[in-house]
Amino acid sequence: MASFDPNRFVLEHDQDTPKEILRAAYQAFGELTLSFSGAEDVVLIDLALKVAPKEAINVFALDTGRLHPETYAFIERVREHYGITIDLRFPDAETVQALVRHKGLFSFFRDGHQECCGIRKVAPLRRRLAGLPMWVTGQRRDQSPGTRSSLQIAEHDHGFGSEASPLVKVNPLTHWSSEEVWTYIRMFDVPYNPLHERGFISIGCEPCTRPTLPGQHEREGRWWWEDQDGKECGLHATNLPSPEVTPR
Ligand code: ADX
Ligand code: SF4
Repeated sequence: MASFDPNRFVLEHDQDTPKEILRAAYQAFGELTLSFSGAEDVVLIDLALKVAPKEAINVFALDTGRLHPETYAFIERVREHYGITIDLRFPDAETVQALVRHKGLFSFFRDGHQECCGIRKVAPLRRRLAGLPMWVTGQRRDQSPGTRSSLQIAEHDHGFGSEASPLVKVNPLTHWSSEEVWTYIRMFDVPYNPLHERGFISIGCEPCTRPTLPGQHEREGRWWWEDQDGKECGLHATNLPSPEVTPR
């Protein structure tokens, strides 16, 4: 593939629908690698299967070991519903063991979530993305006013890519609202995590996720004991102002 220019892609496709953006990304890269954890990601799997052959679609999920039982059941349901392989990625066992031995199972409530997320999410993601030209995420601008308001439909991922091995992050749902995501889910009978029926909006690991009340922003259900403005776990650290761009 000739070198891909995210700025040009944005100029050409920013007004397109998520489906058209995925189609254009598939045409540019010849494959789609989708990261899967939540409602947005299943919408993208559903759309990807409409614009690319199954063999060209790779879906992976980071299993931190701390997900809700409902989330594991949801992953399995998505796998069966679409007849796809979901590549579950696990953290390095020795590193998790060392963290838990030294700091216990809930160190993130005392020290902040970066260390645990670094071990359970960021390092496995770095291994999964190594050498890849692109990945697709379900990020939206209105998910996190503090960190995602200037998200683009395509951008260089300087956190996980490098000059020698450039990586592009494609975010087809950049301009969609939560309402648009849920309209699609209802319209096309897309499977969703049953925790959404119990007040959860944004769902991550079980100890670090809580339901939100009417009027609260969805991000208030994540790492609620920390500063509201800078909440990224490291998967999307490029959304943060430097010097925190480089994920640990
Ligand atoms: S997070 O950085 O705060 O955890 P969020 O839950 O908003 O991210 O999800 C944004 C996007 O990041 C998802 O649409 C998905 O593409 C990716 N993502 C988040 N968590 C995971 C995970 N556990 N496995 C794979 N991809 C994930
Ligand atoms: Fe650890 Fe919480 Fe991050 Fe999950 S979200 S990896 S439990 S700090």
